[in-house]
Amino acid sequence: MFVNDIESLEIDEKCLKILRALAKIYKAEKFVKISSAHVSGVSYDNIGEEGLEWLKSIKGKVRVYTTLNPAGMDCERWREMGLKEDFYRKQFEILKVFENLGVEMTLTCTPYYVNAPKFGEHLAWAESSAVVYANSLIGARTNRESGISALASAIAGVTPYYGLHMKENRAPTVLVKAKGDLSIVGYKAGIELPSEIPLFVFDRKVSETELKLLSASIAATGNIAMFHAENVTPEWKDFEIPREKVDIEGKFEKICEPDLIAIGCPHCSREELEKILKLLDGRKVKKELWIFTSRKIFEDAKKTVEELEKLGAKVFRDTCMVVSPATERFKCVMVNSGKALEYLPKKRKVEVAFGSLENCVRSAIE
Ligand code: F3S
Repeated sequence: MFVNDIESLEIDEKCLKILRALAKIYKAEKFVKISSAHVSGVSYDNIGEEGLEWLKSIKGKVRVYTTLNPAGMDCERWREMGLKEDFYRKQFEILKVFENLGVEMTLTCTPYYVNAPKFGEHLAWAESSAVVYANSLIGARTNRESGISALASAIAGVTPYYGLHMKENRAPTVLVKAKGDLSIVGYKAGIELPSEIPLFVFDRKVSETELKLLSASIAATGNIAMFHAENVTPEWKDFEIPREKVDIEGKFEKICEPDLIAIGCPHCSREELEKILKLLDGRKVKKELWIFTSRKIFEDAKKTVEELEKLGAKVFRDTCMVVSPATERFKCVMVNSGKALEYLPKKRKVEVAFGSLENCVRSAIE
């Protein structure tokens, strides 16, 4: 399970250096074998020419099952997204490099819907929303890796043993009584408690989708990599209840008139696609409604996708409203995601309106 000496692994020198440096910074005395890696930093819009050159310089192949975060475009429908051929070519080049390294072309921030890790497994995952989901909802163990360190670990098959890989560092540090929209609860918790491990106590039964949205927003505004939830998450009983208490209400008002409604941050599950279809209830959309999911869920839910498209929604794969520059041409984007609420104004310079999934769909048909 552990490796003390990574020098003998015979891997790309740059990857070795990254892992050695991380171990030194975090005082990790050894490395732990990982069952999977998840790599971010895929969109050409994010990593640019320099990132592409760096990726091209990496030698070898990944040693463990490695998944890939969304790119800057739907690989088939990029034209419909309004993207230019130059962008497509560069993005395609990046994807080819990852493919040659042996990375699975999952192109999703929800790798746990493709192949879920098991409780207690050690991972090296980038993509902060997936990190929080894996640690909190599954009980797998990963630190918040960068795209670069996750790739280095994928090539080496190990990651430095520190932080959330160790049980003693996974204890909750603050008790949070939460009510209202969980996406906003996470958004506020990330701001108010940026370096804590919250133990949430909810005032009602919460769904997996709500916890996924919470995982994304808490990691977007804060430096948080895991939480516990009373009677919900697998490790919450393993530790003492923290003394410090905070109340957070998931309420948020920010209104602009949306010209795009974007759902799927993190990528939609099959259940969410079905719920959107149900909410549309046969009514045609009158505004642009973009839904983002993985190619895996797109295939699994093909019928639902077709129904959604018939009603005028666009279901895109491989990308999202934040990592793709395609959303920049809109003025106001309405979302149900606290993560998108945080990132869209910063990355895409658009105004953002927030609403529940129900409100987002209603806005699309009004
Ligand atoms: Fe996923 Fe994009 Fe949101 S990568 S978590 S949909 S910002």
